[in-house]
Amino acid sequence: MENAKPAKKSVALSGVVAGNTAVCTVGRAGNDLHYRGYDITDLARQASFEEVAHLLVHERLPTAAELAAYRLRLQAGRGLPAPLRAVLEQIPATAHPMDVLRTGVSALGTIESERLSGSGGALEQVAGARAIADRLIACQPSMLLYWHHFATTGRRITVETDDPTLAAHFLRLLHQREPAAAHVRALDQALILYAEHEFNASTFTARVIAGTGSDFYSAVTGAIGALRGPKHGGANEVALEIALRYRTPGEAEADIRARVARKEIVIGFGHPVYTIADPRNPIIKEIARKLCADGGNPDLFAVGERIEGVMAELKKMFPNLDWYSAPAFHMLGVPTAMFTPIFVIARTAGWSAHVIEQRLDGKIIRPAANYTGPENRPFVPLGQRP
Ligand SMILES: CC(C)(COP(=O)(O)OP(=O)(O)OC[C@H]1O[C@@H](n2cnc3c(N)ncnc32)[C@H](O)[C@@H]1OP(=O)(O)O)[C@@H](O)C(=O)NCCC(=O)NCCS
Repeated sequence: MENAKPAKKSVALSGVVAGNTAVCTVGRAGNDLHYRGYDITDLARQASFEEVAHLLVHERLPTAAELAAYRLRLQAGRGLPAPLRAVLEQIPATAHPMDVLRTGVSALGTIESERLSGSGGALEQVAGARAIADRLIACQPSMLLYWHHFATTGRRITVETDDPTLAAHFLRLLHQREPAAAHVRALDQALILYAEHEFNASTFTARVIAGTGSDFYSAVTGAIGALRGPKHGGANEVALEIALRYRTPGEAEADIRARVARKEIVIGFGHPVYTIADPRNPIIKEIARKLCADGGNPDLFAVGERIEGVMAELKKMFPNLDWYSAPAFHMLGVPTAMFTPIFVIARTAGWSAHVIEQRLDGKIIRPAANYTGPENRPFVPLGQRP
């Protein structure tokens, strides 16, 4: 049998429709993104992350009263049970924060387990799933930052705050002080931009796990593992490393030209679905520009913008969300290794919507493979193998 010719694109199954969804559309016009039919630009400019999480997990934008109740529910979900704190205290300071979240979510699944009935009454499973989704969105910042402070200083911080937004809660726990309103809104908007993206690798992972009838925590734990890689969520960490390599835009331009000539991939550029532009980019770019200017580091933004120009000229490539998220998060004082965990916290809203949708769909996902190995080999008994 002849081996299948490798596809030219570096993305397998690109463009293959793998199922139905009412959660999101990506790049139907080359550069657009909608969550449940709402344009990402409207959501990022006019909504809060909590409204968007409600839209994704609970299927509609909340009324003012529903939003107030939802904020209280998320606030109430910020605490960590003692056995989970004990697990987090065992994780060394050298661990990657993504591994901390993966472990934390899995550990919470042993403490606040989801009881599935087995025969799988889908509707019964959905109400419980929404409650777990809200709990995970609410408590992931607590897990991450409880571990961070304990591992680095030995301090056991209080993770319950009455901040109305997840963004303020995150920044308060991280810096242990009142966050600036502009910083809170910047992070709030970034969370909206990261909240959902159709059948990307981590969401598809979550759906595959959900499709087997497995529990909610397993789906999110698996999704975190898929998101960790530099070709997916890990890209924003690498994007900052690239930007910090250069002291001036001129230095950046010369080096990036040389790297592109050597056919190096510049992380933070290109996208498997968008063909014209990433619609999230203008929003995050303005956030990064303002944070860099106000934070006294305009050169960091200037380096990023110069590289954007070089990539457009040489490769006709555009920055994806990760490119300007990196300087934005850096200016918020977020450690680089926590960039992808922020993505996790936001995307848990999207993953949850897909897990629920997959449960309602009720099917296991099981594609076929194109076999490329040898055929009809004679079996050689153990003692006779060379
Ligand atoms: C996202 C990604 C996997 C899409 O890959 P893809 O669909 O194969 O990309 P394309 O088909 O548009 O690639 C066209 C060409 O540009 C190159 N290219 C793609 N992304 C590139 C990048 N970021 N930097 C430099 N060159 C790149 C490809 O190698 C290919 O070159 P070739 O024609 O000489 O073979 C790829 O762009 C990438 O690895 N980007 C960096 C990682 C990243 O930022 N990930 C986050 C995505 S949200």
